[in-house]
Amino acid sequence: MAIKITVCSTKGGVGKTTLTANMAGILVDMGQRVLAVDADIQPTLSSFYGLDSQAEGGLMTLITSATIQGVISRTSLHGLDIVLSDDPDGELQSWILHQPDGRVRLRHLLATLDDYYDIILIDTQGAIGPLQDAAVLAADLLVSPIPPEILSAREFARGTLGMLERLKPMAFLGAPVAPMKGLVYRMDHTRDARMISHELRQASYAPSRGAISILNTLIPSTVAYREAATHRMPVHRWETRRSGPTASALETMTALVHELFPHLVESTPSWKDAQAQSSQEVPHE
Ligand SMILES: Nc1ncnc2c1ncn2[C@@H]1O[C@H](COP(=O)(O)OP(=O)(O)OP(=O)(O)O)[C@@H](O)[C@H]1O
Ligand SMILES: [Mg+2]
Repeated sequence: MAIKITVCSTKGGVGKTTLTANMAGILVDMGQRVLAVDADIQPTLSSFYGLDSQAEGGLMTLITSATIQGVISRTSLHGLDIVLSDDPDGELQSWILHQPDGRVRLRHLLATLDDYYDIILIDTQGAIGPLQDAAVLAADLLVSPIPPEILSAREFARGTLGMLERLKPMAFLGAPVAPMKGLVYRMDHTRDARMISHELRQASYAPSRGAISILNTLIPSTVAYREAATHRMPVHRWETRRSGPTASALETMTALVHELFPHLVESTPSWKDAQAQSSQEVPHE
């Protein structure tokens, strides 16, 4: 069964797409069969790696036609497939809103891909809305990047956790809200960032306590993440080592994946033989 992870935040620009793309990249290099889903109207994830073959449809087709045929594209990163964002006018939002099963459809449709993938990663837009709700309700685990500055920390406590509370009743419709892991993201060496990171870990998120925690792994703020995106490469391949106290992208992303997926602790990323991987028979085109 594929593990579904939704990367979400009610705040824009926190690092969701970069994180989704880089997690997808390291997971395929660990031999995992990965599907990325771009649930943002601005198709940033869709263009992160470039495409080897493009399906006719994308997320709009998947959800409105309830079919997995003709919605899965192949990225140029060997082993990584993607459901592209094909909704430039944002019509899917209101479609989901007005459909009785709108918010739980994605969850049921992705379950039909369980045999094809080990991990499905969903990137969302940085604002609340029916599509983000659908992506959250499709997940087994939620990951929320939080830059350690006061406005982002407040928005996490107010907006993102508020969204989880609002969706809780969906459990009665068979779509329980998954546990959430906050990820301190774009950490720098300022005292302010250290203090906010510390406070995020100390905070008790009653009444959702237990279902929400902050990951031990931190993602540093370094230029490697932007450079790798410019070169359309996963960051762990771009920066394998680094001098100074900050962990390299390879070390950071490996630690993150091991923390999120303890069953992969034995795996180290290897991209030399990446071409030999991924012979999955997925319903492309
Ligand atoms: N670890 C990092 N260090 C420094 N800069 C980063 C890092 N990760 C991402 N960035 C940069 O931060 C900016 C925002 O990242 P990204 O687009 O991933 O955020 P987002 O949450 O997906 O935004 P949106 O809400 O608009 O979809 C980008 O310019 C990206 O290159
Ligand atoms: Mg984004």
